[in-house]
Amino acid sequence: RAHRDPHRPRFHFTAPGGWLNDPNGLTHWRGVYHLFYQYNPFAPAHGNIHWGHATSTDLVRWTDEPIALAPGLDGPDRDGCWSGVLVDDGGVPTIVYSGRHAGHELPCVARGSADLRSWTKDEANPVIAAAPEGVDVTAFRDHCVWREGAVWRQLIGSGIRGVGGTAFLYESDDLRTWRYVGPLLTGTAAQNPGEPDWTGTTWECVDLFRLGDSESGNADATDVLVFSAWDEGTTHHSLYWTGRYQGDAFTPTAVHRLDYGGRYFYAPQSTRDEHGRRIMFGWLQEGRTDDANARAGWCGVMSLPRIVTLGSDGGLHQAPAPELTRLRRDHVAVPARRLNASYTRLYDVRGDQLDLEISLRLAPAATARLVLRETPDGAERTVVEVNRTHDGAGGTLRLHRETSSLDPTVDTEPRYGALPMGPDGRVELRVLVDHSALEIFANGHPLSARVYPTRPDQAVGVGVGADGDVALDRFDAWQMASAFTAGPRPLWP
Ligand code: FRU
Repeated sequence: RAHRDPHRPRFHFTAPGGWLNDPNGLTHWRGVYHLFYQYNPFAPAHGNIHWGHATSTDLVRWTDEPIALAPGLDGPDRDGCWSGVLVDDGGVPTIVYSGRHAGHELPCVARGSADLRSWTKDEANPVIAAAPEGVDVTAFRDHCVWREGAVWRQLIGSGIRGVGGTAFLYESDDLRTWRYVGPLLTGTAAQNPGEPDWTGTTWECVDLFRLGDSESGNADATDVLVFSAWDEGTTHHSLYWTGRYQGDAFTPTAVHRLDYGGRYFYAPQSTRDEHGRRIMFGWLQEGRTDDANARAGWCGVMSLPRIVTLGSDGGLHQAPAPELTRLRRDHVAVPARRLNASYTRLYDVRGDQLDLEISLRLAPAATARLVLRETPDGAERTVVEVNRTHDGAGGTLRLHRETSSLDPTVDTEPRYGALPMGPDGRVELRVLVDHSALEIFANGHPLSARVYPTRPDQAVGVGVGADGDVALDRFDAWQMASAFTAGPRPLWP
C-alpha cells in the first residue's frame, strides 16, 4: 500500500514509516554523516517522539540505523525526546536534547557508543531544572551547543511573553552543570506580525554559526543565528539574523527569510563537516490532510543537504550538496534560444524525479515561466515563475501551486520572495523534483514546497514560456535515480 504512494520521494530522505519532523544531532563523525530526526515510529502523527537515525558516507545514500533515543518509562523524557544536537566531548559522542514531560521540556544529556548506535541517558537528567527564574517564558527547548576555549556554551530556544522570541545563553565546564548567562538576543514580536519575516513569539531550533572564516576571530566573518519563528496556531517559518556574536551578545545587522517556502522548510539544523563545509537540513512538512497522511502510513520529508555560504548580497547563498549529481541519469540538453509568449512543452524532458539546471537572462519587466508536472491535458501543472522589475534592479521568485493538484484537500497557496538579479538580469535556476517534494534555488535563494498531483500515472511534462524578452542560455535536465537501492522506499515494518 504505502510503498506505492506516488507522493513518496525517492532521493530525499524519509523515515521508514510513521512520522518525521526536525533534523537532529547532525554531525560528520570520523568520515560518516549522521542524521538523527524527530520520529514517531508507530504512527504518521506527531507524538511519542523518538530519535530516528540514519547514516551516509556521501550525503546521497542513507542507511537506517536503530532508533537512538526512546522516551523513558519514567523520568524527564517520558513524553518524548525532542530536538537537540550531538557534540564531541573529548571523543565521547554526546547528545543534548529536550526531554518532554507534563507539557514542557527540559535539557537532557545522553552518551553514545563509539559507533553512535547505542545511547545511555544521564541519571541526573534533566541537567537544567527550570527555565531562567523570573522570566515568563513561552517555551524552553531545542539546543545549540559548542566549545569556546575551555568552556561549553549552549543556546536554548524560547520566548519572553509580551516581548518576543529569544535564545538563552548558558555556560558549562562538563555539559552537566550549566550557568545561566542571559538572553543572547531577543526579538520584538510587535514588529511585522503576520508577515513572512515576522520573528514570532517563540524561537524554536536556534542554530548559531560563523561563515566566511575558517578559524574564529576574523573581522570579515559574518555570524548567523538561524531560528524557527513560531507562534501558537499562526506562524511556522525559518529565519536568520546576520550580525556579530561577541562576548555574551549577538548584535544583529538584519533578519532574513531562510527559504521562501515558509513552513515547508522548517526547524533546520546545520553542521560543519570534515571538509569545512556548512551543511544544513530542514524538515519539509506535509501539505496534505492528517487523514491522507494516515492512509499513506508515512509523512515528513528531510530536505536535501544544502551547502550554505555567504552571498554577495549580505545574506546566505544556498545550494544542494554537489554529491547529489551522482544520482543524475539520462542527460537532456535543450538548445539555447529566446523564449517568447508562446508556451513550449519540452517533450524530451518529463517525469517526477528530475534535476534541472537553467540559466536565463531577463530584460527589465520580463517574466519567465517553467512548468513542471504537467498532465497531457494541462489540467494539472505547477509553475515556477521568475520576473525582473521595470527598473531592472530586482525581481521575484514565485511558485504557483493553484493548479498543482485537482485534489481540493491539499494546500495550494502560492509562495514567493525577493530575487536579487545577477548581472544583465541573469537568473541561475536549479530545480529538484522528487514526487511530492520540490526544491527550487534561484540565484542561491531557496523555495521549498510540496505538491500532490492526482495523475502521477500520466507522463508528466515540463515546459517553458515567457512574457517580454527572455534568453534561455542553458537548460540541462537529468532523471534522478532513487537513493534507496532496493527501489521505492519500503514501508517499515
Ligand atoms: C520544531 C519542534 C521543536 C521541538 C520538536 C518536537 O518543529 O516543535 O521545537 O523540539 O519540534 O518534535
